[in-house]
Amino acid sequence: MLVAAFLRNGLGLLVPLAIACTIYLYLYPFFGGCAFPLSSRDSNEAFEATKRLHWPYTELESEPDHVPTQLAPFRLLALGDPQLEGDTSIPTVILGTFPHVFSIFDHVTFRTEHWCFRERVRQIVHDIVDIFFEDIPWFLESLRKRFDLFGNDFYLAHIYRTLHWWSRPTHVTVLGDLLGSQWIEDDEFDIRGHRFWERAFRGGERVPDDVAVWPKHEYELAGMLDGSETEDIWTRRIMNVAGNHDIGYAGDLTPERLDRFERVFGKVNYELRFGIPINDTDVLATLHDDATNPESTRLEPEIRIVILNDMNLDTPAKNTTLQDATYSFINKVIGTSAAVEYSGIFTLVLTHIPLYKPEGVCVDAPFFDFHTPEEGGGVKEQYLLSADASKGFLEGFYGMNKDPSAAAGGRGRKGLILNGHDHEGCDTYHFINQTNGTDPAERFWEVARWRDAQAQGLPNLTSEGVPGRREITVRSMMGDFNGNAGLLSMWFNQETWEWEYEFANCRLGTPLFWWFVHFLDLGVIVAFLVYIAVTIMGAAGVDVDARFFEAVEWSRRRFSQWWNKNSNRAAATTQNGHAKMNG
Ligand SMILES: *[C@@H]1O[C@H](CO)[C@@H](O)[C@H](O)[C@H]1NC(C)=O
Repeated sequence: MLVAAFLRNGLGLLVPLAIACTIYLYLYPFFGGCAFPLSSRDSNEAFEATKRLHWPYTELESEPDHVPTQLAPFRLLALGDPQLEGDTSIPTVILGTFPHVFSIFDHVTFRTEHWCFRERVRQIVHDIVDIFFEDIPWFLESLRKRFDLFGNDFYLAHIYRTLHWWSRPTHVTVLGDLLGSQWIEDDEFDIRGHRFWERAFRGGERVPDDVAVWPKHEYELAGMLDGSETEDIWTRRIMNVAGNHDIGYAGDLTPERLDRFERVFGKVNYELRFGIPINDTDVLATLHDDATNPESTRLEPEIRIVILNDMNLDTPAKNTTLQDATYSFINKVIGTSAAVEYSGIFTLVLTHIPLYKPEGVCVDAPFFDFHTPEEGGGVKEQYLLSADASKGFLEGFYGMNKDPSAAAGGRGRKGLILNGHDHEGCDTYHFINQTNGTDPAERFWEVARWRDAQAQGLPNLTSEGVPGRREITVRSMMGDFNGNAGLLSMWFNQETWEWEYEFANCRLGTPLFWWFVHFLDLGVIVAFLVYIAVTIMGAAGVDVDARFFEAVEWSRRRFSQWWNKNSNRAAATTQNGHAKMNG
């Protein structure tokens, strides 16, 4: 039973390895210590709390699915730039399969025009060369690419599914560049949309249009952050942001591109407000009320999520109607914001292109490229928003001011900006020094890496004349960037009457490991099936070893026959050649 013994020993080695790798891959957030931060900001404690959610023997006060109140009430799973590729990255789709074979056929069958026979032969020889140096490499590359794309969908799906299951977000966002190209045809757009919803983000849902509405003075909350069953819908809905590869930059954005995006992925501009239950009547009595408590600056706590298409904030835009729509949306957001003096509302902006920052702060530096005047002259590409557009964010959305004598000292409204675009990710702090110089007009927005800003204590200087806001560019979830995901927690501090937040990253690691584990598992399953077959055959009285060695011997003989025949022929050809030369 040599064959059986060999398989048994091989499986004895491979099965533990396969199990270990599979467990590691499928529980990667556990091994990576990933968890939504807690209000204590202690990452170990957060990890323990998340672990307890999955420990079947944990005693929970109410229903089994009840999330312990220790977890932050708002937990956003933020994913950057999945960029689903498709037919545009497969050479044979663009160039055809073996195009030069068809071309030869045309030349040979006189379907082409040539001015003389020599030219026809020249073209045929040319095409034969191209079969070897173009068609075959393209064909192989296309096969590899197709396989790669197939795996990539599942790699992204693995991140979404595993992390969603492990970390229990209350909300999910994809921060733009859902797709890999804005130039694709409608049918390919639909195919990728289908892959997005059915494969990569399976179980996810588009935010309905009647929920994704523009800001109003008399608005309805999109939900309560109370962990109740009715809020489960928000764990499945995906707040999709439009990116340049989805709808194009300002110079390419057309109503057609916008429409197909909104049809498949949801609206590009909208607002969602989430409240948090406060039941303590003493606390409720401290809230602002025009009639009974006009002195109070406390508003009912709300997280205001603004999903913004910032593709056409900068000029020139191809379609000014669409640009006006973006501007009027922003004005609407600003117009419906509470006055800066009030506290309790947190504005979370989800958008794609990051704010302006000078070279060297993040990986992407300021960069603009424009179409030629003949092409329309619009924005062709940009890495960051312009300084003016960024200022609009900070002074418009957040109402911060360079002048300390402005309303509420120019400190503005609380909030945070999340975006994508720069695949490497970046974490920064934008601030303005209100004591810099005597003339407010000379004061300017500065930006520092969040770590450096913290080291200098800048975020604590908000009430000392240096207001600022943090901007987190979430690192891409693509394999090249190790399958990153952002975990943003938010909770309400009743002492200060402000929302607080903490952000963490979680990485899956290289797609090579993902591939390796699945190939290994497949290999083990095949080996196991062969082992069972061998055992059954052995039990049925078949001498498997003898059959196996016969088969090996037969193959060896066939191979050496083939080898000898070929080498003899080669030798004969060489001899003939020598003979001719010598003769
Ligand atoms: C703000 O400007 C003042 C005056 O130039 C300077 O003394 C102070 O250090 C600046 N603060 C920061 C945080 O840059």
